[in-house]
Amino acid sequence: MLKDKRIIYGVTGSVAAVKAPIVARELVRRGAVVYPALTASGAQFTTAYGLSVLTKNETAAVVFGSPSTWHIHLGRSVDAMLIAPCSATTIGKLRYGIYDTVVTLLAASLPKGIPLVLAPAMDEEMWLQPAVQENIAWLKELGVGIIEPVSGALASGLEGMGRMLEPEELVDEFDNLISMPQDLDTAKPKFKLAFEGKRILISGGPTYEPIDPVRFIGNRSSGKMGAALANEATSVFGANVTLVMGPSAAKTLPFVNRIDVETTDQMYASMLEHLPSSDIIIMSAAVSDYRVKNVSRSKLKKKGDDIPNIDLERTTDILKKLASEKRDDQIIVGFALESQENGEEYARKKLEEKGLDVVVLNSYDENGAGFGSDTNRVTIYTKTGMKRELGLMSKTECAREILAAITELK
Ligand code: CTP
Repeated sequence: MLKDKRIIYGVTGSVAAVKAPIVARELVRRGAVVYPALTASGAQFTTAYGLSVLTKNETAAVVFGSPSTWHIHLGRSVDAMLIAPCSATTIGKLRYGIYDTVVTLLAASLPKGIPLVLAPAMDEEMWLQPAVQENIAWLKELGVGIIEPVSGALASGLEGMGRMLEPEELVDEFDNLISMPQDLDTAKPKFKLAFEGKRILISGGPTYEPIDPVRFIGNRSSGKMGAALANEATSVFGANVTLVMGPSAAKTLPFVNRIDVETTDQMYASMLEHLPSSDIIIMSAAVSDYRVKNVSRSKLKKKGDDIPNIDLERTTDILKKLASEKRDDQIIVGFALESQENGEEYARKKLEEKGLDVVVLNSYDENGAGFGSDTNRVTIYTKTGMKRELGLMSKTECAREILAAITELK
């Protein structure tokens, strides 16, 4: 989609600006014509010369350039503007109309209908400042596209929210946002987020079934798919998300209402509680099918050569229960983890037998797919007869495809 698009690429004062040359190169690689702009603070982290070399266009670096109205001409000639990284200060200036840097000046020179997209990047403390969050909410309301920062290692050495997406993913998000249908009646094009006002209930991760106070039966699910679904549903699709998560270190955005649970029973209770208020339910958790019948209250001790017998019983099939209790206007999505052989047959069977709207098939015996991996390959089946076989992709992209398929159901 970026091919032949004319893009202003603004870079501001955040340490993530060290990635700006790679972002610029990625935009160019996808065929965009890129006009870089760099603030004085941004220039502390990257250089105007480097951006010029990579984009083959001169980097705008001074407000009082020539001709005097250069920014208006440039603003009127482009298809979109990206500011990445966008500092807290630039966010504040954009909100309050302070156009004293090349980047805010250019943003103010975009005519109505030209999308502006920001990728905030800063330390967690700063990102969570009420002033910054309020400014972001206000800009979003106006129709400015926001590429939400993610969790990860920050320049301060701390781990937390505020990290800019890696260049390739960032450019994917930008492309995705500017390709969305826009409402041209608002001051800026308003990105119509597909799930705005919708409540989505998602489960993720494994469940642990205790044997005694220190041991459990579990599985290798990392929770990354559930976290990706929750993060994408809120940031890209604008949904109000509740994520019921089994034991998992996967990070989620602060806007996700995350409820951490451990056992199948806890997950069931939490999903059931949120069922009535949800429009869409996605069971991506790898739920244990069995639990221990008589959980020992004290740690099981070895007794000579005896090997203990652990009696198991079935857990509740949460997905099946929710599907049978939901209202007709609620959409329910399940997952099927199968071997590559016969996967389709089992997936279709689950769709039918559990009464689902969508089933997402993935396999455990394929390299780069399934548990623990950062990538996945899925096939989506809907009760309306659609089958969409996707290639190997990041779990983030995969989540986006699954959510997009759900939007097509109605
Ligand atoms: N699921 C559930 N509750 C369970 C077990 C599974 O809600 N106790 C959900 C999973 O979240 C997933 C789907 O059901 O969405 C998987 O279906 P299931 O029939 O359990 O498949 P597997 O356990 O993957 O496979 P099999 O039936 O072959 O054991």
